[in-house]
Amino acid sequence: MADRKAQLTIEGLDKVIEFPVYSGSAGPDVIDIRSLTAEGLFTYDPGFMATSSCQSAITYIDGANGVLLHRGYPIGQLAEHSNFVELCYLLLNGELPSQEEYREFEANIRNHTMVHEQLANFYKGFRRDAHPMSILCGVVGGLAAFYHDHMNITREEDRRISAIRLIAKMPTLAAMSYKYNIGQPFNYPRNDLNYAENFLYMMFSNPCEEYKINPVFAKAIDRIFMLHADHEQNASTSTVRLAGSTGANPFACISAGIAALWGPAHGGANEAVLNMLDEIGDESEENIQRYIDRAKNKDDPFRLMGFGHRVYRSFDPRAKVMKETCDEVLGELGMADDPQLKIAKRLEEIALEDDYFIERQLYPNVDFYSGIILKAIGIPTNMFTVIFAVSRTIGWISHWNEMISGEYKIGRPRQLYVGYNQRDYPAK
Ligand code: SDX
Repeated sequence: MADRKAQLTIEGLDKVIEFPVYSGSAGPDVIDIRSLTAEGLFTYDPGFMATSSCQSAITYIDGANGVLLHRGYPIGQLAEHSNFVELCYLLLNGELPSQEEYREFEANIRNHTMVHEQLANFYKGFRRDAHPMSILCGVVGGLAAFYHDHMNITREEDRRISAIRLIAKMPTLAAMSYKYNIGQPFNYPRNDLNYAENFLYMMFSNPCEEYKINPVFAKAIDRIFMLHADHEQNASTSTVRLAGSTGANPFACISAGIAALWGPAHGGANEAVLNMLDEIGDESEENIQRYIDRAKNKDDPFRLMGFGHRVYRSFDPRAKVMKETCDEVLGELGMADDPQLKIAKRLEEIALEDDYFIERQLYPNVDFYSGIILKAIGIPTNMFTVIFAVSRTIGWISHWNEMISGEYKIGRPRQLYVGYNQRDYPAK
């Protein structure tokens, strides 16, 4: 892998330190700086802006050109021709499934969608108005209490069954958190429905009347699951990898990922976009311009939620597909004139012509339009990040499995210490 060398000279140090330079199959080369500790030196990179934490073959992002590949396949092609369950197989196993492999994988997931009846009691410990992300964090971590039979992470079969269980049960647990919030009875999953249909059924069916699946909603939910499935070493995936590097069980690691995703700078942004559109309220030009000006004002904490990205310095390819899906769903529902959609589109048009956003390469990201679609389907805002977590579980567990099945060390960053040097405890 090392085909070139990097050399470092430091004033006051009379030697040249050499480092191997590795090239991947795509993307920037990396400098292996591990030998620095032998020189008594660390690198310094808060926020890991220029740090590769691992090798991975799962997902590749070309931020400059707005490219997102899952095992080499562009997200736009996958969104058009595949479905979420097939994408789960691809991310986890590295190749698209044959028809037989797909049938078996899909049946396996279908047969693990139910959760232990005892878990329903876990929900009863929460206040009815608990944020569903807080419930999901707790309940997913609690799954470890039910699956001691397959938690030897060194066994490939145990890792496989844990992955199947998590992919299968996340929609069930997510829908249960919604039903608990609104005081309606939980719905059991149905084996005659596909993954997206089942989620809608568990969310919206109730004992008093038959729930009819809207195919437009089912297709939109499946598309949203696909667009949020994985995204390299983002904050929540890095959290899962770090937790996994200690040997923690997969359920604890996914629970840690859910916690990290909840932040408004990360997965919580879709909920924050809708709250922002609610706050903007009036679609008049002067009002929208006022909010754009606030987003540019350093003294104002207001940010244009759903805009900007650590990696994409051009359009997030997922946002393009999401915007098309948004137009499709709202068009089908006769809501093309939805005021929030109009505000979002006008915000995007104005921002993309404004030097502040152009200079900082700020474009709509995956979260900018997803909330409008979810709201049109009837999903409450506090469930948006829960849906992101249901989808990202396949990304998290695929990265966890890639790490655990290969060589890895416990993650343990160092620091630049700026505190007191040693001092003595004052004599009394
Ligand atoms: C996700 O990592 C991933 O892959 C994440 C994700 C995934 O799939 O896992 O893609 C999902 O998290 C998408 C991002 C969702 N978050 C938001 O939409 C929240 C709003 N966006 C910002 O908080 C911000 O853009 C981040 C957090 C997304 C990225 O922050 P960075 O890379 O640390 O960039 P920065 O904060 O240093 O911003 C650079 C400049 C700053 O201005 P200057 O100091 O240079 O003058 O751009 C400004 C920022 O103030 N800026 C914004 C802005 N985002 C950045 N100004 C106004 N509105 C914004 N949204």
